[in-house]
Amino acid sequence: MVQLLGHAGVNVKRAISSADELLEKSCSVYLLTSIGFLVMLILRIYLAPQNGRRVGHGTKVPRNINMERLRNGYLFSEICRRELEHTQKYPHAKLIKLGIGDTTEPIPDIITSAMAEHAHALSTIRGYRGYGAEQGNMELRNAIAQTFYRDMGIKANEVFVSDGAQCDISRIQMLLGSNVTVAVQDPSFPAYMDSSVIIGQSGNFKEETGKYENILYMNCGPESNFFPDLSNTPRTDIIFLCSPNNPTGHAASRQQLEQLVEFAKANGSIIIHDSAYAAYITDESPRSIFEIPGGREVAIEISSFSKFAGFTGVRLGWTVVPEELLYSNGFPVIKDYNRIVCTCFNGASSIAQAGGLACLSSDGYLAMNAVLDYYKENAKIIMDTFTSLGLKVHGGKNAPYMWVHFPGLRSWDVFNEILEKTHIITVPGTGFGPGGEGYIRVSAFGQRESVIEASRRLKNLLK
Ligand SMILES: Cc1ncc(COP(=O)(O)O)c(C=O)c1O
Repeated sequence: MVQLLGHAGVNVKRAISSADELLEKSCSVYLLTSIGFLVMLILRIYLAPQNGRRVGHGTKVPRNINMERLRNGYLFSEICRRELEHTQKYPHAKLIKLGIGDTTEPIPDIITSAMAEHAHALSTIRGYRGYGAEQGNMELRNAIAQTFYRDMGIKANEVFVSDGAQCDISRIQMLLGSNVTVAVQDPSFPAYMDSSVIIGQSGNFKEETGKYENILYMNCGPESNFFPDLSNTPRTDIIFLCSPNNPTGHAASRQQLEQLVEFAKANGSIIIHDSAYAAYITDESPRSIFEIPGGREVAIEISSFSKFAGFTGVRLGWTVVPEELLYSNGFPVIKDYNRIVCTCFNGASSIAQAGGLACLSSDGYLAMNAVLDYYKENAKIIMDTFTSLGLKVHGGKNAPYMWVHFPGLRSWDVFNEILEKTHIITVPGTGFGPGGEGYIRVSAFGQRESVIEASRRLKNLLK
């Protein structure tokens, strides 16, 4: 019994001491966890962005005032952010993206084979090439001039091959500098506006109007047939015009472009014409500003292989600066643009350029047109869907975008409602300027099953 008690006493002692140890251990764990939690809390507060700013060590470098002026994020980054939020909320939903306007169909084999062949040759002594001409490979410049500007008098040396139209917009802004006055279409592709602000051509953003000061917004709604009313447009140095237009899908008619060239001539302005979607034109609308007599004296044209050949990831574009285009002091713009290209750009990837050349071969051109027809058919399905629901749809015929009107509604509300109820991404019209209120942009890029499924979901929601 005594032994038993003795044993019991030892066991109790052991139990007590292990309880003590346990208590001690849990106290230290508790203490450590609390300290850890506290440190994390302090770090979180310390590192948390405050109005986009972090508290902590700062350099003595002031923020570029023009960057400070830029409003919110870039439209498409904001859409990506909302898309991510949505997929976290509905991890099992099948999202259909008819938003950002990225191509979805594979690039025809004849084009990728040319790129692969070029890339393989780089592994050989004979085929290796380093830097190319900053302005692009002459064979490609020639092919672009011949394919897109035949009979328009554009020479190969006026074609500057690039890594895409978006980069060229910024390079052109660098060429123009901060002292020019600028007009943009409202609504318009956001890169013109944002790059104008970044280079210092604008004043502050005004919440009341949804516009930047010192930039002329040319209303391009249905009431003016999606083109600026030039009889009411004050003079600016620069006029950005996109045709076929992103987002409205409107291709300017010959008469509209003739009026614009006349207007620019009379005012001594320069037109920056973006023809990134010219390949989607199905009617008689001009594919280039240089189809218009006098265009060479007043315009620069930016274009791209992105939407035409599915090169959004490959990256290839071009800009045409005619020799006749002169500054007020008579100096040729092309000389300055050449200088900008040599300073800020070292030439497009030679692999991408090999792909570009293959696109412009007769077989490559045919293969690409088959892909364009596929997107055009998608556009038709989407247009028919909205029209059957009694909604007014613009665009779609000469561009891969449909501009759908929801009278009396706010475009971000329509975007959110469609996303929440159908898991379809579109783009809210106000992302393209205040003139986009009440509209959403729907893109025709997508696989056919997705487009058909999107049509079904939209009919269910909006019927
Ligand atoms: C009107 C317009 N211009 C330029 C671009 C940019 O083209 P890239 O991919 O050649 O930079 C886009 C892209 O969506 C666009 O819509």
